[in-house]
Amino acid sequence: MTNGVERYVSGARIAERVARLAEIGGLPNGGMNRLPFTPEDRAARDLFARWLSDLGLPVRVDGAGNVIGRREGGDPTAPVVMAGSHLDTQPMGGRFDGIAGVLTALEAAEAMGAAGFVHRHPVEIVDFAAEESMGRFDVSMPGSRAMVGALKSEDLELRCRLTGETLREAMGSIGIDLSRLAAAERPLGSIKAVVELHIEQGPHLEEAGKQIGVVTTVAGSVRYHCVLEGQQAHSGALPMAYRRDALCGAAELLLAVERAAKAQASPPVVGTVGYMDYEPRSPVIIPGRVRMIIDVRSVDAAARDAVAADIEAAARRIAVARRLHLEWRLSSGFPPTPLARAVVDTITRACEDLGVSSMPMPSGAGHDAMTLGRRFPAGMLFVPSVGGISHAPQELTRTEDLEAGAKVLCRALCMLAA
Ligand code: GLV
Ligand code: MN
Ligand code: MN
Repeated sequence: MTNGVERYVSGARIAERVARLAEIGGLPNGGMNRLPFTPEDRAARDLFARWLSDLGLPVRVDGAGNVIGRREGGDPTAPVVMAGSHLDTQPMGGRFDGIAGVLTALEAAEAMGAAGFVHRHPVEIVDFAAEESMGRFDVSMPGSRAMVGALKSEDLELRCRLTGETLREAMGSIGIDLSRLAAAERPLGSIKAVVELHIEQGPHLEEAGKQIGVVTTVAGSVRYHCVLEGQQAHSGALPMAYRRDALCGAAELLLAVERAAKAQASPPVVGTVGYMDYEPRSPVIIPGRVRMIIDVRSVDAAARDAVAADIEAAARRIAVARRLHLEWRLSSGFPPTPLARAVVDTITRACEDLGVSSMPMPSGAGHDAMTLGRRFPAGMLFVPSVGGISHAPQELTRTEDLEAGAKVLCRALCMLAA
């Protein structure tokens, strides 16, 4: 019996938990600074584990740091139905990115308990470790990566851009037992379906007046590490004609990224330089060296790669014209990921059953469900983001939308687990 379990879902309870989590690493401006593998991240993970335990669910932390609560079904050997997202945030991030997915999954488990829902498949509720790892390390989503055997031992030696510690050290600092990393991998066939609810992080649902987006494909990203090296020199003494100013070259490249992405309107491609540092930093020194990370994404790999090629050509032109040395390296790449038809259809059906308005749509952002989708049937549903703003303190999703999303998630999980 899958009908009616979602009646036990409470939007008010989800909102209370959002507020409680926002106390951990919250900023005065309403934003969040709960970077992965920090004491704040640990506190949020511990609180989530306590909430799971309060529901009577056994909790474990795997060797990659994923926090997992399990609601046993009639057949403990049956493949798992998994739901969740992440509790860590970007620097100056928001209160809903990832958190909405973890708390609605928790709410679904709570509703199943309250309804006495009987099911065959085990249901696992997960906080995937460090989905926002890119805010610190040059590897994305180590938690879900490890579940598909894609976290490499060399990834653990990557250094944090902010503190210099390695990923291994950062994970160890919050008590993750990396000696059990290999066991975090889930074998093929062991997961029946992954369902991740997430905030949209863009404007489309609000513009269309729909409450749920059923994600069909997740955009693929490529990231390039670019270093421009010129000659550090005196800002007062060196005439303009003599200069090899690395920061001026970076400024030109920054605009070339924007121009190349904007020129590719359909299918759309987005290009961003969100990280840049330069040295030294003094008002009286011409900058000698700039490092930037260029992020290019699209659901269309060919369009994305064409834009990336234009950007690389611009970087080479600028370097020659300005007599700069250029280092150009592809640091990561993810292909666009179509989500599993069966899971997409189940989410769509759950929306129809509950009379909640929905539309199919792609995801511009990357997610744990995308990583897990490499090996397991995965699906996602989006709830609206006010003004399309995310990865920002102003990030907001209305409680009524969280509640509708939680009900759809709950119903979809019930259908999959029955
Ligand atoms: C995840 O936040 C991403 O950058 O897509
Ligand atoms: Mn994010
Ligand atoms: Mn997220």
